[in-house]
Amino acid sequence: MNNTIKRIGVMTSGGDSPGMNAAIRAVARSCAYYNIQCVGFYRGFQGMIEGDYVDMDARSVRNIISRGGTILKSARSKEFLTPEGRKKAADNLRKAEVDAMILIGGDGTFRGGKIFSEEYGFPVIGVPGTIDNDISGTNYTIGYDTALNTVVEAIDKIRDTASSHNRLFFVEVMGRDAGFIALNSGVGAGAEEILIPEEDLGLDRLLLSLERSRKSGKTSSIVVVSEGDKIGKNVFELSEYVTKNLPDYDTRVTVLGHIQRGGSPSCFDRVLASRLCVKAVELLLAGEKDVMVGLLNNQIEFCTLENALKGRHNINEDLLRISDILST
Ligand code: F6P
Repeated sequence: MNNTIKRIGVMTSGGDSPGMNAAIRAVARSCAYYNIQCVGFYRGFQGMIEGDYVDMDARSVRNIISRGGTILKSARSKEFLTPEGRKKAADNLRKAEVDAMILIGGDGTFRGGKIFSEEYGFPVIGVPGTIDNDISGTNYTIGYDTALNTVVEAIDKIRDTASSHNRLFFVEVMGRDAGFIALNSGVGAGAEEILIPEEDLGLDRLLLSLERSRKSGKTSSIVVVSEGDKIGKNVFELSEYVTKNLPDYDTRVTVLGHIQRGGSPSCFDRVLASRLCVKAVELLLAGEKDVMVGLLNNQIEFCTLENALKGRHNINEDLLRISDILST
């Protein structure tokens, strides 16, 4: 055990995700177990800049494992992007006698953590928490599984009304520049087409496929569109384009939006958050730093923040093939 680590800070940053509270709980409880202090910083890097923190013990995190959102709040701090902002954060961490930070968030969070640790030699550990699942070095990020289930439940409901009215629905899902949510929820909900940023289906092929669906006797259709899709049109323009070219279709658009980020975390996300954060505390105590913990082939592993940021977490191409076959 590394005796220089006596007080660990934890924060959540970037877009919140279901399971972040389970992660905070696991950090606080592991610190209590190993007899070290835990400090929670509010609103991610912004709380570090403002010195806005709370001392946490095992009881501070009671009954939060099932709650969505994050009790520490989250933000995307613009000030932390500046050297002055990071200096304020470093000064405040020193004043608060914090020896290391656990950063729960996505790639923006890890980028900030990496620069900070390079500039100030301050130990940080990243924990992947984002619904997007777009982080390399882990098969799953905290919140992704819950978001997928939220999306599938929503599309099932849309399917009911689509089928009653013989309509074509375009459903936009989150994922910024990554198609994980779209691809997996699309397969899970039996979508006719899935448009993701990793693959440019092209407008002509979309029209062809929808025409083919209609001719094969389908009366309703669902097209799942990732918000970062590269087809060059937003979901409303896409719907207009299809209506113009295939006037037989009665089309509607649903943008699922931030509903995907809320809700009680699934069991998978709670267990993932718990495993990753116990490991994060243990790694700090073992003298490790500037790494991200992740789940690879059901084992908790870690890689440098640099590799987590550099690498690419690829979508499962086979799912596209499966979706094609099953939407026949
Ligand atoms: O990164 C998580 C995410 O939910 C993305 O999928 C989405 O593009 C973005 O955050 C939305 O951010 P905001 O909450 O700032 O609108």
